[in-house]
Amino acid sequence: MHASSRSIDTNQSGPHEGLTGRVTRALENPLRKPIAEHTQAAFQEARTWLAARSEMPLILDAGCGVGLSTRRLAASFPDHAVIGVDRSRDRLSREHGPLPDNALLVRADLVDFWRLALADGWRPARHYLLYPNPYPKSAHLKMRWQGHPVLPVILALGGHLELRSNWRLYVEEFALAVAQATGHEAQVAIHEPNGKPLTPFEQKYHVSGQTLWKLVVQLPHDPDLVAREGGA
Ligand SMILES: C[S@@+](CC[C@H](N)C(=O)[O-])C[C@H]1O[C@@H](n2cnc3c(N)ncnc32)[C@H](O)[C@@H]1O
Repeated sequence: MHASSRSIDTNQSGPHEGLTGRVTRALENPLRKPIAEHTQAAFQEARTWLAARSEMPLILDAGCGVGLSTRRLAASFPDHAVIGVDRSRDRLSREHGPLPDNALLVRADLVDFWRLALADGWRPARHYLLYPNPYPKSAHLKMRWQGHPVLPVILALGGHLELRSNWRLYVEEFALAVAQATGHEAQVAIHEPNGKPLTPFEQKYHVSGQTLWKLVVQLPHDPDLVAREGGA
């Protein structure tokens, strides 16, 4: 792990002025992107795996990278079933030892996986978004989860939702989006790994001396948050 990591370089000085509009649009319009076949297949596998652990509360590790956080969460919550999802075959294939029985790594596009999970009635007890790609350029707001059309689906799944980032503005924007979409106030605070980083990115940023930010919010399971085709 390199000890130096560049901090975020952005042309934004505060929350994006287009954020409210993006969230409104996401809440009012169904996401029409077809589900990719490979994610459909990966979801079915995850569904079968989870069905064999139906008595265990679910933890989603969304954008799990190499899956170290998935392993660590599985160790911290041995009575939970932990599913790590990432679209990068390369990252997921890196060798980090055997997976515990209560952990699964899935290669899938989250935009599709989240929609399938919500449609199937999944209710994660805990849901982690650990160091998502920041897309710091102002023009890329729609690629950040808070500006993405899938945001209502993420929030509708409910549970203890936790976002971590080395970019304060990302976390603050996400909190604004949560408040707008759900009326719930998310807690934003500095995150101290206390010698136990949960992910490689957390470790890399911390070792570089960067401040880490964390958002936590407890959300109800609320599929009605998601606009439906032909709905009001
Ligand atoms: C900056 S990395 C962080 C990885 C890990 N959470 C960590 O902290 O070490 C962001 C990860 O999100 C994944 N990712 C981004 N967009 C995704 C998507 N639409 N579906 C699945 N994974 C995605 C990337 O492949 C990458 O592994």
